[in-house]
Amino acid sequence: MSLDDRRADFPALRERPDGKSPVYLDSACMSLVPQSVLDAMQEYYRDFPGCGGRSLHRFAEEVGRRYEAARAGFARRLGRADPHSVVFLRNSTEAINLVAQGLDWKRGERVLISDREHNSNLVVWQRLATERGIRIEILPLSDSGDFDRDLLEERLARGIRLVSLFQTSNLDGQTLPVREITERAHDRGALVLIDGCQAAPHEPQELDRVGIDFYAVSGHKMLGPTGTGVLAAAPGPLATLRPLLLGGETVEWSTLTDHELRPPPFRFEAGLQNYAGVIGSGAALEYLAGLDSAEMRAREIALNRRFTDAVAGEPRVRLLGPRDPERRPSVVAFTLDGIDPNDAALFLDEGHDVMVRSGRHCVHSWYAERGIPGNVRASFYLYSRPADVDALIAGVRELLERIPFSGTSAATKAASSPRSGSGPRRVAGSRGAAVRSARPRHRGGRGRAAYAGGSG
Ligand SMILES: Cc1ncc(COP(=O)(O)O)c(C=O)c1O
Repeated sequence: MSLDDRRADFPALRERPDGKSPVYLDSACMSLVPQSVLDAMQEYYRDFPGCGGRSLHRFAEEVGRRYEAARAGFARRLGRADPHSVVFLRNSTEAINLVAQGLDWKRGERVLISDREHNSNLVVWQRLATERGIRIEILPLSDSGDFDRDLLEERLARGIRLVSLFQTSNLDGQTLPVREITERAHDRGALVLIDGCQAAPHEPQELDRVGIDFYAVSGHKMLGPTGTGVLAAAPGPLATLRPLLLGGETVEWSTLTDHELRPPPFRFEAGLQNYAGVIGSGAALEYLAGLDSAEMRAREIALNRRFTDAVAGEPRVRLLGPRDPERRPSVVAFTLDGIDPNDAALFLDEGHDVMVRSGRHCVHSWYAERGIPGNVRASFYLYSRPADVDALIAGVRELLERIPFSGTSAATKAASSPRSGSGPRRVAGSRGAAVRSARPRHRGGRGRAAYAGGSG
């Protein structure tokens, strides 16, 4: 089946009475779910709605079987030979927290992160720095996507206990050479945690072969239900982690004064689990296994190039990250001189039925360094079409026409001088203008409240 035919598998993309189907360009935030995932979750609630691991009846047995099948599915997708390397959690944020808070940090030990990590891979380290005295080392990355090996070596030479980096950036789509990073880190005795939540949805991984110690992913970015994710860890490092939560299912036995923890992964899965979600994510993995990831990648690059080429002649459209779409297949992020990114997103949604993400993408630190208020991001997945990109292009062009601009915006300055600016600023004068000029088609217009404080 070709990717074009796959759109029909996604109920959220069904045609509306006016013959149009939604233009969803926000899969980096959350992907859509195919019917098979909905069916699997419904089957759970309809046919065997028990809890796994505790009761011995037939519902419980079926839940346990499907739950463990999903675990095996993640192990296959991620290249872990042992399914018990996979811990079910709520999302990659929780997976990163489990590693961060589960390691036995000593004062002065260092973690190395990049200068554009999602808050999930930043703020927990800041807390550990305050509370346990760890030190955070920053690896500056280039906007071009070129990776500076010498800089990595220089940072590693400072004595790093854990390297914790994204694999693919949700900000600008660049992908880091995680195999090489892992080798170099291991040569220096450091552990490696990779935030794979923008990479694993697009291609299978080989974690055992690459030697990555800890790997975090979110199921809801790879066709699964919300609130699902895993930590896929090598058995040795996993066994060293202290569980974040204790309770039902985490212990072999307990007395009034003592208990013995179960082996991993069970000691990390406290309390009654999200069975419907896990079973749904198992179905998502089966769906993904049926796709050709090379075909998917080629399609994402083509879509990305379509947009990139179309805006190449627009001086007010400034792309973030690597120039070449091959180096950021699933993400195209841009600022529009003189137009606030949140206004642009509302305009695109209400005026052109195009759903994109705007704001600071939970990487506030990066925008704060540059003094820009955020940007617009479109992200592609297997169900994205050329028509979606064309709608985005039309929306951006109309926006540029409606909101003339002359002068130098904060974004312009930041693009020419990446380190300038002392804090986030809005682009003056555009706030609300785009929204007011949009033509709401399917609902009333939204105002400031829709994104006040929510542009992260
Ligand atoms: C690179 C990256 N890391 C971490 C996260 C956090 O994922 P979640 O909210 O599913 O925990 C995201 C979400 O967008 C992300 O893009």
